[in-house]
Amino acid sequence: MTSAVPAFLEQRRSIRAFRPEPVDRACLDALVESACIAPAPHHSRPWRFVVIDTDAAKQALALGMGDRWRADLLADGVADARVEELVHASHVKLTTAPALVLGCLTWDGLDRYPDEARQRAEWGMALLSLGAAVENLMLAAADAGLASCWVAAPIFCPEAARDALALPAPWLPHALVLVGHPDPAYVARERPPVPLDELRLNK
Ligand SMILES: Cc1cc2nc3c(=O)[nH]c(=O)nc-3n(C[C@H](O)[C@H](O)[C@H](O)COP(=O)(O)O)c2cc1C
Repeated sequence: MTSAVPAFLEQRRSIRAFRPEPVDRACLDALVESACIAPAPHHSRPWRFVVIDTDAAKQALALGMGDRWRADLLADGVADARVEELVHASHVKLTTAPALVLGCLTWDGLDRYPDEARQRAEWGMALLSLGAAVENLMLAAADAGLASCWVAAPIFCPEAARDALALPAPWLPHALVLVGHPDPAYVARERPPVPLDELRLNK
């Protein structure tokens, strides 16, 4: 059966290995600009993006988030040696990627509600919108022949990620994307077929 999914969507894969050369700053700006035309609730743009391609900033972010992850893993009762292995692997992943784009959320432009339920829904909308922005960024990267991979880490420690980079207080990191020129030896994991009949209901 011929896939009904457009080729430009099919071609974006999570690529986790990069050639060592840097990514042009203008290219990175184009990716962020692509992210910033994503749909967002009531004409807001509740995201901010931090483009990181210096060793110092990569180290600072990886160390800040790593310290927090180490503390969480130890509190979970994970053995010391395993904790160090996991934190080290994450550090290497972040510091060897040619560039990182950190997606942050702010309350700027969002509505405020007196009750907790609607306040949470409003923040949820902002998060959905950040997801759309990150997808735009990754699709633009694929279109430019660049590799990218979303990394979950900052959503577990937004304050630690913010403080590691001395970002403005209202910027709360929630998504990290590794970007670089793809290592031609990297083979993306096989994409499982979409079981449409399980995932979609017709009414
Ligand atoms: C919110 C989110 C967090 C993710 N976090 C990670 C991560 O921490 N490390 C990683 O290697 N991939 C991460 N991924 C990538 C997924 O593993 C990947 O998108 C999924 O396996 C589908 O593969 P594909 O992107 O190649 O289609 C994340 C994806 C999303 C949407």
